Amino acid sequence: MDFLDLKLLVTIIALSVGLAHTEPQDELYSFEWIGYNTNLDDPKYRLLDNVQPLQISVDLDVYLEESRFNGIVQLQVQVSENLTQIVLHQNVVSIDEVSVLDAAERPVSLQIPNPFTIDRYYEIVTINFASEIVPGTYIITINYKGRINENPHDRGLYKGYYYYNNEKRYYATTQFQPYHARKAFPCFDEPQFKCPFTITITRGANLRPSFSNMAIANTTVLPSGRVQERFYPTPVVSSYLVAFHVSDFVSTNSSGTVQKPFQIISREGPTNQHSYAADVGFKITEIMESYFNISYYEMGQGRPMKNDHIALPDFPSGAMENWGMVNYREAYLLYDEQNTNLQNRIFIATIIAHELAHKWFGNLVTCFWWSNLWLNESFASFFEFFSAHEAEPWLELDDIFILDSVQSALSGDASASIQPMNWSSVADNPSISAHFGTSSYAKGASVLRMLEHFVTPVVFRNALRYYLKENSYGIGYPTDMYAAFRRAVSEDPTFATAYPGIDIGTVFDGWVQNAGAPVVEVNVNMTSGLVSLTQRRFQISGTPPNDIWQIPISWTHGDSPNFQNTRPTYVLTQRTGSVQKPVGTSWVVLNIAQSGFYRVNYDNQNWGLIAAQLRSNKDVIHKLSRSQIVNDVLFFIRAGQISIPVAFDVLSFLAKETDYYVWNGALTQLQWIHRRLEHLPAAYDEFTAYLLELIDEAVKQIGYADGANDSVSTIQQRMQILNFACNLGHQGCIDDSLAKWNSFRTQNTPVQISSRRYVYCVGLRNGNASDYQFLFQKYNTSENTADMVVMLRTLACSKDQASIEHYLYQTMHSDKIRVHDKNNAFSYALQGNSENLQTVLNFLFNNYAEIRETYGGAARLSNCISALSGFLTDFEDIVKFQSWLYENQIAIGESFSTGVSVVNTAVNNLRWGNNVAAEIFSELRSRSSATTATTSLFVVMLALAAKFVF
Ligand SMILES: *[C@@H]1O[C@H](CO)[C@@H](O)[C@H](O)[C@H]1NC(C)=O
Ligand SMILES: *[C@@H]1O[C@H](CO)[C@@H](O)[C@H](O)[C@H]1NC(C)=O
Ligand SMILES: *[C@@H]1O[C@H](CO)[C@@H](O)[C@H](O)[C@H]1NC(C)=O
Ligand SMILES: *[C@@H]1O[C@H](CO)[C@@H](O)[C@H](O)[C@H]1NC(C)=O
Ligand SMILES: *[C@@H]1O[C@H](CO)[C@@H](O)[C@H](O)[C@H]1NC(C)=O
Repeated sequence: MDFLDLKLLVTIIALSVGLAHTEPQDELYSFEWIGYNTNLDDPKYRLLDNVQPLQISVDLDVYLEESRFNGIVQLQVQVSENLTQIVLHQNVVSIDEVSVLDAAERPVSLQIPNPFTIDRYYEIVTINFASEIVPGTYIITINYKGRINENPHDRGLYKGYYYYNNEKRYYATTQFQPYHARKAFPCFDEPQFKCPFTITITRGANLRPSFSNMAIANTTVLPSGRVQERFYPTPVVSSYLVAFHVSDFVSTNSSGTVQKPFQIISREGPTNQHSYAADVGFKITEIMESYFNISYYEMGQGRPMKNDHIALPDFPSGAMENWGMVNYREAYLLYDEQNTNLQNRIFIATIIAHELAHKWFGNLVTCFWWSNLWLNESFASFFEFFSAHEAEPWLELDDIFILDSVQSALSGDASASIQPMNWSSVADNPSISAHFGTSSYAKGASVLRMLEHFVTPVVFRNALRYYLKENSYGIGYPTDMYAAFRRAVSEDPTFATAYPGIDIGTVFDGWVQNAGAPVVEVNVNMTSGLVSLTQRRFQISGTPPNDIWQIPISWTHGDSPNFQNTRPTYVLTQRTGSVQKPVGTSWVVLNIAQSGFYRVNYDNQNWGLIAAQLRSNKDVIHKLSRSQIVNDVLFFIRAGQISIPVAFDVLSFLAKETDYYVWNGALTQLQWIHRRLEHLPAAYDEFTAYLLELIDEAVKQIGYADGANDSVSTIQQRMQILNFACNLGHQGCIDDSLAKWNSFRTQNTPVQISSRRYVYCVGLRNGNASDYQFLFQKYNTSENTADMVVMLRTLACSKDQASIEHYLYQTMHSDKIRVHDKNNAFSYALQGNSENLQTVLNFLFNNYAEIRETYGGAARLSNCISALSGFLTDFEDIVKFQSWLYENQIAIGESFSTGVSVVNTAVNNLRWGNNVAAEIFSELRSRSSATTATTSLFVVMLALAAKFVF
């Protein structure tokens, strides 16, 4: 499903299920799923399968201004046993009338006086028959009233707005996944119930034609002057994929053909920002048509398929793959050469690819239940990178996959409470929502990539073709997927030769069933050349369970390094195993280019050899392996699974490293450790000095301005390293940024797009209220939402307290700050400067009820509270927060438990820092020749003693 937006933010959130975590938390980026933590905690929820929908017509009379609609839904169903009741999902305002006809169109009597009963808690309507009905087909007609939700977070059919020539205009659109179709019409609201839908919408004549999954079949102007549009019936589809949109939006069709239409749709105004999405989206459609050997445009079961992509100013998710009508947040679809930075451009290409991949994985073949959401999302998350890569090779998306998917999924899997890909506990709304997380998305995609390296790309593609072809218009189970892989693998004789006795289905299933991901511990006997391997689940804290995986292992060694061949040469099927390298002292490296989904920890001698290699000639080791090495080492530090001197010995090569991928694997974790020392000034300063030294060469090499021939990774490296450097106080970075900011302010010289984030931030951090006002003005008049998000983030860099107060007030009251950006803005205020914490806390303490109201509900207040956990780095602040929390427990309501987790996390973070500070301090001190600081270890210990009061 949806794509969500945290990828942009580097904000601090708990994993969606993870509010119960009490371990040190990561700064996590990812996207589609934020906002999926709502209500209900009872499992009596599923519909029986003795009634199947055959086809459903939905006829809505929509009153946009009044935020309401009248509906008639007609469901033709197949009943397979004698019944006295039929149960459907509903979550509409009221049901006025229910009638049932049998196959001969004779009325079927319902109970008097209760022909139907509504259960608001389970969101169902039960139709009560006067006497038992027999198997056969029936037609159920329900007249009802519905609401257009004014809060987009409520999903269903909801309302948004935009300004055109200073006039405020409204539109209504849908977000149904996973359980919100029932808010627009009573239905069988589970993915396994698939049937054709025929949608009819009646709207005001002041609007433009509506959109739905299919094209308009005919239009009728009613005597009232209102306009009725009937759409072609959809192919067989689940309710969560139905969609419609009522507005005065406009479309362009610059890329498709008459046979293969492709439209970008947006509010009136930014139509000149349509063409990038149109070009790349159409290209990706054709790439996937040929990869899967199933044409998108022939999926309509006889009806013409369209391919619309709609940019929405307000959207609770990131994007949603409704068949024929994909919804996006505007920033993820509209591209403006002058204002959209490279990272946002990458989002546009990858998110379109993700949603298009769903046409095959999700729409054509659907997961049978949300417990196995990975059958939809893993594939979408895989092709998000690899089909976009084929369309836009210069974006390096095949390599970026390692950072955005593999490393981010490994990070999620480091938590003791992460769920497996197949999470059998998915039963009710909260658990459904919680499964829209890294396990279903990034982890699944990473497992797929590992399997592709294992079985080879051609066999992998054939397996997917078998799965899609055999299950088209139906539902898929994991066993169907394994069967397709077995069949494709059986056609390749090299597999059985290379991996005797290995069953691909069993390998696959282990990764699907086990929660978490393994670390392979490597012990090399340099005398014999025996490389001993032991696997266990990697966790940041706690004792891991005894699960084992069948791990395809690729590896190489220092005697003849080969980082080109990523095909595994060994499968570790037991807890322990071994491979043989030549006798003699040379390093081994496992998991070439991080093609597998596991971490690797080595014995100290091998780490030392790797460290020496990296210092003498790092390029012998592939950049993606270097990226894994630094990322793993930093996680091992966090988990206490590597000695501090060994770890810093390995990391020392970073002082000469300039590569984007390697630094990306390191920066978030370095920052995490840095922040854990914030309450210990001596250790903190030492670590700051260490980081400044470590990045200095990278900053020098990359320079401060994009060149015409810079590669994507060079530009991204500049964005990430300068952002990090400026935040850390790197003088060169600050001076350059201030100069650019000043010429922007005084001469209106635009700042290079990719530099805006840190240049604006430095400008505001070193400026005053007038700098803030200047940028706030720009924010309010921008027509490009991606650029607006950059400005929203950097406005929070101001150190002027009144400006930050103004900023926070705007998050509640300015309709230029979209509801889906409000929580982000709250996090930006925390990220802007550590000094902002007190202002943000006071804002929260004084306004939490209003925040809950204006940000869009209790879940949003919980998100704000959750965002605090990484920033409560001082004991006094934790105590202050905790006092507020307990004093206002009742009024804080369901967000209280989030607050308790925040306190636990913050305390654990503090403890973690206390435990390692002295050792890190003395290690850095002994490594650093240049430092002139005079703080002694004694002072650090003293500070520790003072803080260690709980
Ligand atoms: C279903 O109902 C029919 C008609 O009332 C009856 O003849 C039949 O025995 C019932 N079947 C079952 C399995 O109860
Ligand atoms: C409207 O379209 C449907 C096909 O969906 C067709 O059967 C019907 O005849 C059309 N009605 C008119 C008035 O054109
Ligand atoms: C695009 O839209 C225009 C105007 O509606 C239409 O004339 C043209 O045929 C369309 N082009 C394609 C490729 O669909
Ligand atoms: C592609 O699909 C066509 C038609 O369904 C089929 O005839 C052909 O064999 C398929 N090609 C491959 C390579 O699977
Ligand atoms: C390494 O291998 C040699 C030769 O087989 C053996 O004698 C030695 O005991 C091994 N070392 C360890 C630590 O197992």
